[in-house]
Amino acid sequence: MPVRADKVPGSSHTIYLLLLGCVCSPTSVGRWLPSAATIFCMVRPFPGRFPDTRLRRIRQVPWLRRLVAESALSIDDLIWPVFVCDGAARCDPIDSMPDVARLSIDLMLEQVAQAVELGVPAVAVFPVTDPQLKTPDGAEAINPENLVCRAVRAIKRERLDVGVICDVALDPYTSHGQDGLVDEVGTVLNDPTIEVLCQQALVQVEAGCDVIAPSDMMDGRIGAIRQALDAAGHSDTLLLSYAAKYASAFYGPFREAVGSSFGLRSDKKTYQMDPANAREALREVALDLAEGADMVMVKPGMPYLDVVSQVKQSFGVPTFAYQVSGEYAMLKFAADQAAIDGEKTLLESLLAFKRAGADGILTYFAIEAARLLQ
Ligand code: PBG
Repeated sequence: MPVRADKVPGSSHTIYLLLLGCVCSPTSVGRWLPSAATIFCMVRPFPGRFPDTRLRRIRQVPWLRRLVAESALSIDDLIWPVFVCDGAARCDPIDSMPDVARLSIDLMLEQVAQAVELGVPAVAVFPVTDPQLKTPDGAEAINPENLVCRAVRAIKRERLDVGVICDVALDPYTSHGQDGLVDEVGTVLNDPTIEVLCQQALVQVEAGCDVIAPSDMMDGRIGAIRQALDAAGHSDTLLLSYAAKYASAFYGPFREAVGSSFGLRSDKKTYQMDPANAREALREVALDLAEGADMVMVKPGMPYLDVVSQVKQSFGVPTFAYQVSGEYAMLKFAADQAAIDGEKTLLESLLAFKRAGADGILTYFAIEAARLLQ
């Protein structure tokens, strides 16, 4: 059962103060009447008043600020999304994402080794599929020799202490760019898509993927994938559900990076969530948890920290957030123009995820952040 998320901060100590007020009142009548101070605390749940209370007192020096910090960012919170492409010794820059590149498997391995060296616990691998391999049914998704499977196998061969996460969705493989199968008028079909997603999950797990991350937003896919994995003997494989994934314009640079915007003529609003909704996100998360998700994700990140916070408070399960490509681009371009301090803003943005309740953050800044956090 979800815990109520709308508890007033300080309401529990108000009750203690009320009891204390009753016990400490001097007269026998007063014994049962709360004191003025107690009533004040009931109306204003936070104790203290200026000048007795000065909150600046706890901000005076670094050691004190460190001591009273409510949240902290560490390297253990970071997941690095990496784009992998065909070929050898290839490092193709992505115009809309400065300092992020599509890497061939050999170079990707070097970078992953570096991330592991810095202590980054997990990577999420995204394939840049050759446009010639894209078809309306996205069949390349279930080819055990496809790019992402080869990349995962290569990482696993290195025996690195790193978690490997793979998306489950058809958009890197479909000629129309949708995450699922479509009918003749372009409607994305839910149940037929799920069957393909189960097969996609299986080939990725058989390649060595540790965490399957369905990002497609079909209804019921978590339960179906869980069953398919269990039936194939993979009951230990983790499911990180993109549970509350919004139909966001912040994915633009990612779609450029993997080339999925090329064929995309319409949007993804019939399956990804409406940015106007937060309660619906809680229903999505509840369903995915009931179907067997081990961890849930909210995406995008910064514009949706209210959702991250509500999910964490309501369910208390491992909750992740994705600082997506458009968020990265905003910070990076602004920093490159010296409009903001790049290092400070990236660390502040990641700390904000922790404050909202995220257990981990997928971020293109993972390696840079890990260096700064050494
Ligand atoms: C694929 C997928 C997308 C992202 C992650 N997985 C794009 C989309 O749904 O169109 C976006 C990540 C980013 O913008 O960094 N379903």
